[in-house]
Amino acid sequence: MIVKHIDLGITTRCNLKCPLCYRAKGEREIIDLPFEILEKISEIDTLEKLTVCGSLGDPVLYPHFDRMIDLFLDKFRDIIIVINTNGTMNSPEWWYEFGKKFSQIRGYIQFAIDGIETYSRYRVGSTFETVFDNVMGYISSGAMALWQFIIFDYNEYELERAENIANQLGMIFKPIMSYKYTKKFKKPKNYNKRKVDNLEIYCRSLQENSISIDIDGIVTPCCHLRPMKDFVFDNDIKLFIKYLKCRKDINFLENSLENIFNSEFFKYLYENYKETNICKRSCYYYRYKNPSTIYTWRPLNYANKKSEH
Ligand SMILES: C[S@@+](CC[C@H](N)C(=O)[O-])C[C@H]1O[C@@H](n2cnc3c(N)ncnc32)[C@H](O)[C@@H]1O
Ligand code: SF4
Ligand code: SF4
Repeated sequence: MIVKHIDLGITTRCNLKCPLCYRAKGEREIIDLPFEILEKISEIDTLEKLTVCGSLGDPVLYPHFDRMIDLFLDKFRDIIIVINTNGTMNSPEWWYEFGKKFSQIRGYIQFAIDGIETYSRYRVGSTFETVFDNVMGYISSGAMALWQFIIFDYNEYELERAENIANQLGMIFKPIMSYKYTKKFKKPKNYNKRKVDNLEIYCRSLQENSISIDIDGIVTPCCHLRPMKDFVFDNDIKLFIKYLKCRKDINFLENSLENIFNSEFFKYLYENYKETNICKRSCYYYRYKNPSTIYTWRPLNYANKKSEH
């Protein structure tokens, strides 16, 4: 398989405590991706897109962040690079200088800003003013940015205002649903769950030639399998045994991608994803191709204004 897209986790460090983040589940040890992995990735000549996000930390706090950006400038001028961040660390001056560098790369920074007055309810540990000043520093350098807004019941009323600000600043605006809702973090009021028949499983990894590489170098077809670095097998004992057996064979530090794709684990998963619990739960065709088919969020005063990203 040729690889066109890599989803990469680079650190478990974070300065915030977002209540529904995976890292909120217990103490997390500090792990940073060995830089060697980035160097190996930079040699993949089929790559079209690299997403630096991860599920346990914030990429900007990676100790080799500056070195990583220099590597991207050197090797990745032609591919799309997306970096997800809460954007609250460092100073506006730092973000301006970083933006000047990053604008030479194709891609954008995805800032997580879930509200204005209500911002700190989810992004615990910072303020809207802090992230906004940093975003202003960054975009004044001319670099591209996206405003990601997770919708809850309490911040739903701020969506239009946030979108207007984003438009004025030239940012792409991307409202998304939370991956889960709780008693404290409730669904937006205009949320509907529609029943959809005949769901098919869409394996994004196979269809879009994408893989996920985690902070310890372990490669999996996607991040659903290791959102917390611990393998999620959803009571699929066969899959779990394959994983345990192959853990060394699917580490990018010690193996080529070719060998990883030839591992029993990858072969098994690609042949059996339609019968695999975690795949059934995570990758229904409609959920990927048209998220609004299953989860729809459409307040009356917002209807039809926006197509989903
Ligand atoms: C673990 S974060 C890592 C990147 C960065 N720390 C951040 O928060 O943007 C991975 C992604 O999950 C998003 N995220 C956090 N909580 C979420 C939630 N409840 N529902 C959906 N996405 C969420 C983040 O905004 C980010 O885009
Ligand atoms: S900023 Fe990102 S990594 Fe940090 S706690 Fe929030 S969602 Fe998790
Ligand atoms: S969860 Fe399964 S079906 Fe979905 S992308 Fe990953 S391997 Fe493919």
